[in-house]
Amino acid sequence: MRIRRKKHLEERLSLVNNYVLVADRDIPNVNEAIKDKKYFDFVSLFGNENPVEIEIGCGKGGFIVQKALNNPNVNYFAVELLSNIIVMAAENAKEKKLSNVKFFNSSAEYLPRYIPNNSINNLYLNFSPPFPPTSYESHRLTCDRRIVEYKKYLKTGGCVYQKTDDKPFFEYSFDKFVENGFEVYDVSNKIDNGEIENVVTEYEKKFRDKGMPIYALIAIKKED
Ligand SMILES: C[S@@+](CC[C@H](N)C(=O)[O-])C[C@H]1O[C@@H](n2cnc3c(N)ncnc32)[C@H](O)[C@@H]1O
Repeated sequence: MRIRRKKHLEERLSLVNNYVLVADRDIPNVNEAIKDKKYFDFVSLFGNENPVEIEIGCGKGGFIVQKALNNPNVNYFAVELLSNIIVMAAENAKEKKLSNVKFFNSSAEYLPRYIPNNSINNLYLNFSPPFPPTSYESHRLTCDRRIVEYKKYLKTGGCVYQKTDDKPFFEYSFDKFVENGFEVYDVSNKIDNGEIENVVTEYEKKFRDKGMPIYALIAIKKED
């Protein structure tokens, strides 16, 4: 049963291979892998020089596909760890015939190998796992190491937009962005009252349907 399900996944992935890039598995050790740079050339990848925005942990891709539909002059690059999830996101983009979105099947930890410095205009973290135990802090997508990397990818003035349902994780992330030199704003109320345009993600819809509060921040990369 398991083999059949995997074969089915491979067939589905092969049908969206124009949309999905896969991280190399040649160097399994992440610290070694990130020294061996294999930077993407976004201009040749998308066939134009439009701004590039990244989402890390895109899940089924509802957010990034809607962003790509709303902003045809922006290129979207969505990263997701799980191949059985990313395939759904890519099928959605293919169905909508989008040419301004690509998916990357990788863990965030490997991104320094692929994302050139100063190449990204904005970065989105939507409902990333909070990993509450302190011993799991290094897995959080807003731990110091990840934020230092985001700062390198982003152009000056570029923003990280983060949303979460988890208040302690929100507060932790807010503090981490401040400590790493970003200018940070709590925009939770502004997305609720429509002052800031908000594209609702799959997880966000579930939480909003239950009446749960959503926490949102914008962290701006200041001049180096
Ligand atoms: C809770 S889901 C949220 C999905 C989507 N962003 C949303 O808001 O509906 C978190 C997603 O992040 C992915 N993820 C978690 N850690 C990751 C990492 N280190 N690198 C890439 N993706 C990751 C998970 O596989 C999962 O699909």
